[in-house]
Amino acid sequence: MLHDITNAFSDDDNRKIIEIYKPEWLSLSPKVWHSYTAVIYAKQHMRLSDPDIMNAMEHHTLGDGNTDWDHLLYIADKIEPLRGYDVSVQNAMALKNLKEAAAYIKEESRAYIYKTEGIHV
Ligand SMILES: [Fe+2]
Repeated sequence: MLHDITNAFSDDDNRKIIEIYKPEWLSLSPKVWHSYTAVIYAKQHMRLSDPDIMNAMEHHTLGDGNTDWDHLLYIADKIEPLRGYDVSVQNAMALKNLKEAAAYIKEESRAYIYKTEGIHV
């Protein structure tokens, strides 16, 4: 529920937060900024601080986390029913090995972004 809490913020509003707390992310697509601004929002407005949860939220767009929590949220986000595509393969992989499933989904995502936007991520 929290990982996308700032996804509805405007790019300008998310940029203002990123400029202060994560300026190294300004070069990344604004589409990923909400994964870090959600962490800041949860800490400042909800007084949440669990590092496992904060890290999973931060890594949910890029899939660059290394813990089971990071993999779990990244996978759950990519295979949630509203995505509207068949995720049976990804589901089966996740039940066997979170790290391998996350890596597989990350490669699928990279290929999709390159195909649709011409961008290597
Ligand atoms: Fe998100």
